[in-house]
Parts: sequence; structure tokens; C-alpha cells
Amino acid sequence: MQTNRQFVFQGLFWKGAFFIAILVAFRGQGDTPTKIEDKTLHQLIQIAPGLYSGAEPDGEAAFARLAELGIKTVVSVDGIQPNVALAKQHRLRYVHIPIGYDGIDEEAGHTFARLAKDAEGPLYIHCHHGVHRGPAAAAITAIAAGLLSNEEGTALLKQAGTSPNYAGLWRDVAAYQVPDAGVALPELQEVATSSSLAVAMASLDRAFDELKALRQTGWQVSPEHPDVVPEQQALLVREGLQESARTQGDSYDDAFGKAMREAIAQARGLEEALRNKKLSRANAHLKTLAASCTPCHKQYRN
Ligand code: HEC
Repeated sequence: MQTNRQFVFQGLFWKGAFFIAILVAFRGQGDTPTKIEDKTLHQLIQIAPGLYSGAEPDGEAAFARLAELGIKTVVSVDGIQPNVALAKQHRLRYVHIPIGYDGIDEEAGHTFARLAKDAEGPLYIHCHHGVHRGPAAAAITAIAAGLLSNEEGTALLKQAGTSPNYAGLWRDVAAYQVPDAGVALPELQEVATSSSLAVAMASLDRAFDELKALRQTGWQVSPEHPDVVPEQQALLVREGLQESARTQGDSYDDAFGKAMREAIAQARGLEEALRNKKLSRANAHLKTLAASCTPCHKQYRN
């Protein structure tokens, strides 16, 4: 079902096929992702001739620069609403696929496969700073397009400076499998219909559950889940809260902002305590943080 906020790409199939054909044709031996120093686009990396990743294009000059590079489709994986109007002024199309810092789930993975298949290239894939989520999404898209192997995708994260603390991003790039031809892929949307806040909250909620389970075992990493590391989970909660605050700054009142800042401070305290193995302090922060969820939901969640 489509809503009016949902912009479905039609008639792009042949262009998509053309885009991939060009990319694959260009890809020769020794073609590796290259960092490009650019005054207006930060963290710019050319992954292949038709595929770039980088930071959020900030203002008129950045969109002009994208157009100058020949970009046709700008892809945001950030929670914040993309600046569709400014992009249009430069004849750029937007696709919005918000992801968290905790990884790229199957739904998002399928959407990147759709992107590789149908979006008109060249593509510029960005998050906020172009360091963690953007390169991970670009790596997955490149794998789906047959431009990079999983190992090369991992090398791209290294090159981009993606933090090892976002273990889920590394895990999902390493494990990504291109969906079979018969799998129905999600439509591309110009502005995602799921609320950015809901996306950020859902991803922090998973990390928060892990924290509660870890607290029960005295913060011992379980041998069955060696990838679930306490301080990394606390970082994911903090990122999720910060993303919520950043994307929703204008939509709520001051009390909301204050409650969010307090929750962020608790999450940061928890992260630091866990990193420094101050476990009783960690327990106290977790308790205060847990107590902050419900009052805010009561007041602001409809
Ligand atoms: C300062 C306010 C605030 C705080 C603090 C907060 N939340 Fe939320 N949360 C919200 C709002 C508002 C929504 C509704 C978002 C929407 O549906 O657009 C929400 C939604 C959610 C959802 C539902 C997401 C979905 O898929 O619809 C979950 C899960 C959640 N929060 C978990 C948490 C947890 C866990 C904490 C505490 C660690 C927390 N939240 C702290 C404001 C807050």
C-alpha cells in the first residue's frame, strides 16, 4: 500500500539495469575504493565509478557538487528527513533508507538490493558524518551490485574509519547475502514512512534488552554471544537516543529535550562505567536510564 509520503520509483528498471551494466563493465582489476579530498563533501569515497559514499550534503554548495560529480540519486541512511527540495533544485533524486548503528537487518538489506538493481546511478550514499552507517550501507549496496565481495566490503569499512564498536555493521557487511532472484524487494521511498524516531528507538531497544540481560550475569560476556559486548551495547543506546534527539529536536517541547538529554547523560555514564569496569556505578546508571523510558513514553508516545 502506498501513502502520499511514499514515492515509488517507476519506470526505472531499465535504467537500473543499465547502471549495473556500466558499473560492472568499468570494474577492472585493481579498481579499489578511493578516498577523495573534497572541500564541500566530507568523507567522500569513490567505491566504483558509479557509487560514492560520504557525509550528509550540507547546503546549496554540497548539492551542487553532487550534481557536478554526475550523481543522479542521493541515498540517505540517516534518521533525519532528507532535504528533498534542495536536491530537486539540482535534479537529484532522493532515496531514504534509515538504519540504526546496530546493524543492517534483512529488510534494509533487501532494500539496498533493490537500490542496486533499480536506482538510477551514479549513487551517493550518506549518513550523518559518512563514517559508520553510510559506508556500511554503501558496502552492502556494492555487494548486491556485484561490485565488491564481502571481504572487500569489510576493507571499505576499515578505509572509511568505521568504529569497531559498531560490531553489528561489520557483522552484517561480512555476512550479507544477495537475495535470490525470486525474493520480493521493498519499494524505494523518497522519504521513509517509518518515523525516524521509531527507527532509532527500535534499534536502541534491542541494545537495551541486551544490557538488561548482561546486568543479570554480572556483565559477563556470554561465550554463546561473544559479539554482545556491554560497552558497545551502551554505546548503541546512547547513539539511538542522540539520533532521536537530533531528528526530533523541533517536533517536541523543551521538556522532551531535557528528558532526552538526561537519558543521554545516563547512557554515556553507563558506557564509561562499563569501559572502566566500574560495575556498581554501571548498575546505578542502568537503573536510572531504565526509569527514564516509561515517563517519556507516557507523555509523548501516542
Ligand atoms: C525523552 C523521551 C524518550 C525517552 C527518554 C525514551 N523514549 Fe522511546 N520513544 C519515545 C517516543 C516519542 C516514541 C514514539 C516514536 C514514534 O512512534 O514515532 C518512542 C518509541 C519507542 C519504542 C517503539 C519503537 C517502534 O518501533 O515503534 C521503543 C521500543 C522505545 N521507544 C524504547 C525506549 C527505551 C528502551 C528507552 C529507555 C532506554 C526509551 N525508549 C527512552 C520517546 C522516548
